[in-house]
Amino acid sequence: MSAKRVVVTGASSGIGRELSLLCASRGHRLVLSARREVLLREVAEECHRLGSPQVEVEAFDIGHVGEAARLRSAVQSLGLGRVVLVNNAGFGLFGPYHETPWETVAAHVQVLLLGAMAATRELLPLMLDARDGHIVNVLSITTQVALPGSAAYSAAKGGLYAFGKALSAEVRRKGVRVSHVHPGATNTPIWEAVGQSPPREDMIPARAVAEAILGVIETDDRAVVDDLVLTPPQGLL
Ligand SMILES: NC(=O)c1ccc[n+]([C@@H]2O[C@H](COP(=O)([O-])OP(=O)(O)OC[C@H]3O[C@@H](n4cnc5c(N)ncnc54)[C@H](OP(=O)(O)O)[C@@H]3O)[C@@H](O)[C@H]2O)c1
Repeated sequence: MSAKRVVVTGASSGIGRELSLLCASRGHRLVLSARREVLLREVAEECHRLGSPQVEVEAFDIGHVGEAARLRSAVQSLGLGRVVLVNNAGFGLFGPYHETPWETVAAHVQVLLLGAMAATRELLPLMLDARDGHIVNVLSITTQVALPGSAAYSAAKGGLYAFGKALSAEVRRKGVRVSHVHPGATNTPIWEAVGQSPPREDMIPARAVAEAILGVIETDDRAVVDDLVLTPPQGLL
């Protein structure tokens, strides 16, 4: 397996943090991105310790227009190897749609959908030039089932799913693969902002989702994982 250059958005916590550590232990070079720089530097230090030859940190808000350009220069400083972009940064605030402040509705679209589209737009030219690249969109079980209270979140994730499928049709014959991962409830800090959550101990461990994403990234070059749905053993929580 050849070493890759993996860009993880939302690397400071939860699934993104676990994925970064796993990638490091497999010898991949990394760009770690999120807003909280102190946490990113802690993850980066751990990644070095686990064996990643090079780790860059880019702390910014993916929802801010123009900021994603920083990912391109960071990944270019990592030398050679397939560029893999994991669009993972996100948050979820749930509740009745008509009671959700417009700022919160817009933030879902800005961060979950437009942030991922912006990061993709920055890195795709590198992938097309190399005729080699991989984009992994971390979506949600809400792309598969309708969950009350999640309309804004579902709109953003569903939009990213439609974007990714159309993009895949456009670029897969040019060497760029696009994969979609749809996790059910996963035990991460994302639930701390949610008033009443299902029992955390029944959720999928973040490490298990990260292991599945690593598998998507490291799938034999002669196959592409288009969609991967992960649910807790008890089903929907
Ligand atoms: N946990 C679940 O049940 C579950 C289920 C399905 C899908 N997902 C998806 O999995 C992904 C990871 O979530 P998680 O559960 O691991 O949550 P988490 O532990 O809260 O991690 C979210 C990550 O996204 C980053 N982030 C949030 N807003 C950002 C912004 N505006 N700009 C840049 N980075 C931002 C956070 O870092 P900073 O705060 O440092 O910016 C953090 O690193 C999300 O896309 C989420 O929708 C989660």
